[in-house]
Amino acid sequence: MQKTITEGKARIKISEGKISRKLPVFYNPGMKLNRDISVLLLKSVKNTGMRIADPLAASGIRGIRMLLEMNKSKIRKVFINDASAAAADNIKKNLQLNKLSKNKKIKVANEDASVFLLKNRPFDYVDIDPFGTPVSFLDAAIKSLRNGGILAVTATDTAALAGSAPEACLRKYWAFPLRNYLMHEFGLRILIRRIQLAATASERALTPVYSYSLLHYMRVFLRVSGKKRDISKVLKQHSCVSFCSNCFSADVVADISKKNVCSACKNDKVSVAGPVWTGRLFDPKIAAAVYKNNSDDKNSSFLKTVAAESKIDCIGFYDTHVISKKLKMHPPKLETIIAELRKKHKASRTHFSGSGIRTDAKAAEMIGLLRLLKN
Ligand SMILES: C[S@@+](CC[C@H](N)C(=O)[O-])C[C@H]1O[C@@H](n2cnc3c(N)ncnc32)[C@H](O)[C@@H]1O
Repeated sequence: MQKTITEGKARIKISEGKISRKLPVFYNPGMKLNRDISVLLLKSVKNTGMRIADPLAASGIRGIRMLLEMNKSKIRKVFINDASAAAADNIKKNLQLNKLSKNKKIKVANEDASVFLLKNRPFDYVDIDPFGTPVSFLDAAIKSLRNGGILAVTATDTAALAGSAPEACLRKYWAFPLRNYLMHEFGLRILIRRIQLAATASERALTPVYSYSLLHYMRVFLRVSGKKRDISKVLKQHSCVSFCSNCFSADVVADISKKNVCSACKNDKVSVAGPVWTGRLFDPKIAAAVYKNNSDDKNSSFLKTVAAESKIDCIGFYDTHVISKKLKMHPPKLETIIAELRKKHKASRTHFSGSGIRTDAKAAEMIGLLRLLKN
């Protein structure tokens, strides 16, 4: 059985039933924000006349929304593909429902995503939104992109990236994950490095412009460059990071196999993860534009938090509940801590955790401040 639903400006027919990859055509309403951010991001970058690829399209909702919600000058053509024949059929029905079936800016295909990308390249935007890990689609996606274009990647295998399946992380992402309150940020940084390493095979540098972790998935948008010096710049920002559960400091360290010692408190039982991308997760101008272009109140607080933390360039954040527990005190209000930190530092909430603060203050300053606020 099918029913018709509305998301953004699009109406689509979807299969009724429990959300699972077993549905004849997959649609997850819980990923609306994921699709909203794709549209907002493309509205927020300078690129125009784009050839856009949605190679794992399922119902086709993402490409349909781009056509209905973005300025006409932004799009030259949208390519909507899925390997499932039922999905390709459903995409055509959904184009009809949105009066787009005769639109010359659309091409629908029913092929394997990698074959489809390589046959129809070049693209200015490719959106990889698979079930589970994106790694098998990276090579074709990167090869199919023009310099200056954008690659968007979703990973839903958070067990691997966020540390509950470390062997799977090593196998798929060539890195050791972290298993504490920073696991989602580190998972995202592991994913980014893996994408960047795949790009070096095509002599490309991929730099994140917007990234986040939410619910059961991680998501990153990266800008493509073909300059050799950009590749070197990216690779120089791959490193392991140690985390000290005694004083909450994070250090960039050279080697995971060495006995690493915390630079602040000399604890020699630090957890080491990586290698990870240690560079910026966001371009602050793009993050601000994504927030400004949003018109859905439900997205507002999330996008505002990402825009605020995008201005602070540091690895990791402090979890005020975890630190307060260690100090045997009730956690002070987040806003109070942030206001105090801002007297000397950059500080904001982080989208990674409701009790987290991203700041350039050192761990010892954070602990000192919490102790002060206790009294
Ligand atoms: C998570 S769903 C995509 C959801 C969609 N992007 C959205 O926003 O609603 C993954 C889709 O990839 C398709 N798929 C899986 N393997 C594929 C492959 N090798 N090539 C093309 N499509 C594939 C599946 O049929 C499924 O429709």
